[in-house]
Amino acid sequence: MKVRSADGLRLWVRREGPTEGPPVLLVHAFPLGAWMWDSQIRALSADFPVATYDVRGFGRSEVGDGQFTMETMVDDMLEVLDALGWQRAVLCGLSMGGYIVLRTAQRAPERLLGMALCDTRSAADDDEGRLKRAAVIRRVKREGVEGWVDDFLEQALAPATRERSPDLVLRIREGILANPPLGVCGAQLAMAARTDTTDVLSAVSGAALVLTGEEDRITPPETARQMADRLPDAELVLVPGAGHLSNLENPDAFDAALRRYLLRLRGEAAGA
Ligand code: MLT
Repeated sequence: MKVRSADGLRLWVRREGPTEGPPVLLVHAFPLGAWMWDSQIRALSADFPVATYDVRGFGRSEVGDGQFTMETMVDDMLEVLDALGWQRAVLCGLSMGGYIVLRTAQRAPERLLGMALCDTRSAADDDEGRLKRAAVIRRVKREGVEGWVDDFLEQALAPATRERSPDLVLRIREGILANPPLGVCGAQLAMAARTDTTDVLSAVSGAALVLTGEEDRITPPETARQMADRLPDAELVLVPGAGHLSNLENPDAFDAALRRYLLRLRGEAAGA
């Protein structure tokens, strides 16, 4: 289905599963697309309503002028929830998706039934982080996404994934290359300018899941542990053998943890 953003962009949305909740919205990482959740949709859609969408500038969603902010990304997510008819949902975001979820938790806490924060962080970028993003934008403008994608894969994936799963690496690479350079640069700008959302963690009501690849070098386990410590009720799961793209690198462990969390929320809702 297609959803129109507040500023007129068409966003591509996929919805699967039954109508009985809790509904789950999966928000993808930079610079991938909704396709990265295929395994999770297969694993969850027999039992839970599940949806995902391409963030503006990625996959089948339109890119517009490429001038993105984290706030427009949150606005888009709220439009998607409205179009799905989900007043409240479990928001599950990986990395950039997690930034969008965390900012939504601050701006519209009434839309959250639960929160799964995967390979992400609540802190805003520091100086070094912003300089790195400026370098990525410069590089992508000069050399295209193709000129930079292998650096990202080198950073993002665990060495074992690169050695043992060449087909997966190829699939991720092709998925990244399908995105327009303007979308990649626009998302870098939005992430560079995003606000710090650490304060919202202690204000979250209900159970949360914090999940990260054991070998994630972009948002390492220590970062996940610090977020889990601030949340009033969080389970921390380290995904074995996975780097930053933990849902793709070890889907069995990732899916099992997410399913367990959703069953817990369902049980709590039934007991309430
Ligand atoms: C992601 O996977 O979404 C990115 O690594 C996030 C970032 O660049 O901060």
